[in-house]
Amino acid sequence: MDKSQIIADDKNYIANTYARFNIVVKEGHGSKIIDSEGKEYIDCATGIGVNIFGINDREWKDAVTAQINKVQHICNLYYAEPQTELAKLLCDKTGAKKVFFGNSGAEANECAIKVARKYSYDKYGEGRYEIITLKNSFHGRTMATLTATGQDAFHRYFGPFLEGFKYAEPNIESVIECYTHKTCAVMVEVIQGESGVNPLNAEFLTGLEKFCKQRDILLICDEVQCGNGRSGYFYAYEAYGLHPDIVTTAKGLGGGLPIGACLLFDKCKNTLSAGDHGTTFGGNPVACAGALSIVKRIDKNLLLEVQGKGAYLRENISRIKNVKGVSGLGLMIGIETEKPAREIAEACLGKGLIVLTAHNKVRLLPPLNISKNEMDEALQILKEVISK
Ligand SMILES: Cc1ncc(COP(=O)(O)O)c(C=O)c1O
Repeated sequence: MDKSQIIADDKNYIANTYARFNIVVKEGHGSKIIDSEGKEYIDCATGIGVNIFGINDREWKDAVTAQINKVQHICNLYYAEPQTELAKLLCDKTGAKKVFFGNSGAEANECAIKVARKYSYDKYGEGRYEIITLKNSFHGRTMATLTATGQDAFHRYFGPFLEGFKYAEPNIESVIECYTHKTCAVMVEVIQGESGVNPLNAEFLTGLEKFCKQRDILLICDEVQCGNGRSGYFYAYEAYGLHPDIVTTAKGLGGGLPIGACLLFDKCKNTLSAGDHGTTFGGNPVACAGALSIVKRIDKNLLLEVQGKGAYLRENISRIKNVKGVSGLGLMIGIETEKPAREIAEACLGKGLIVLTAHNKVRLLPPLNISKNEMDEALQILKEVISK
């Protein structure tokens, strides 16, 4: 089918929820994507942070294929090695004690919200259910995670929302203002991705952790976008020396297949009992086998490489004319420019570079194994487009 037919059918048959760019992706390899007309692009989007070792990644494909050849799905009524092995590895790497697997970032956050409320119910009885999230946060599109998302733009049309969420500015005074005797948790993205790749202030985060610990309020870190090596740390909260009670993650964890994980640390490791939560597909063995091949490779050397590549890109981008600011950590980069971000992204596409936008910024989430040459090619295109 040719490009125009695919686009016409898409417009006819797919719900109008995505403002798609004018490209039909056909295939790819590593950091390169090829479209339906044979044009090649450098991929600095990775399917919004999912294809963490690029496209057609050999190790991931081998792991997934090997598992498909054994069994494609096992429901959660039985034990399965890939799921257990992945949970153990995530616990070993983070100090978490238990893991609940879902299929997406939103589901990981749904689990975190339920765990926080049940932890509080078990310990303090009814009524301590409020969760403080931050303004400009993004936590997902399900009704609970949409409620948790601190951006009015997402809230239009869909009320009534879940009771028990308050939105603070990213400073401790504002969190204290939101705090009541009903507060059970605070949920943050230490690098706010969707709102423009904004790392939170370190002093605020350490103060927040102290505030939470003193009151037995659970600290939840949403690492759906910034996790799994993307920031140059296994999880970005490590860069701030935090000790969250719950960590949620997805996207890059699966390397291309849907998976989400809610990591439970010491306090709430036994909060969930049989029947409290569940999902049919969560922890699917194929997704877990793929995720295992990803997580095994996120070691100290890779993280140092990611830090170096991130610094290289940020430094060179900040020198481009018309760049007003560069934000982010590791290979999660936000670029503020004079022109609207969407315009820059469209122009980059025309020149063979795929980038994302996040609010008013251009956002880069390249594969962690992007090469120096590919980074230089991407920089050259960014320079041509932004400085024009
Ligand atoms: C920080 C954060 N949390 C949650 C989500 C929701 O994840 P998903 O789209 O997999 O449900 C996203 C998605 O962009 C995200 O960036």
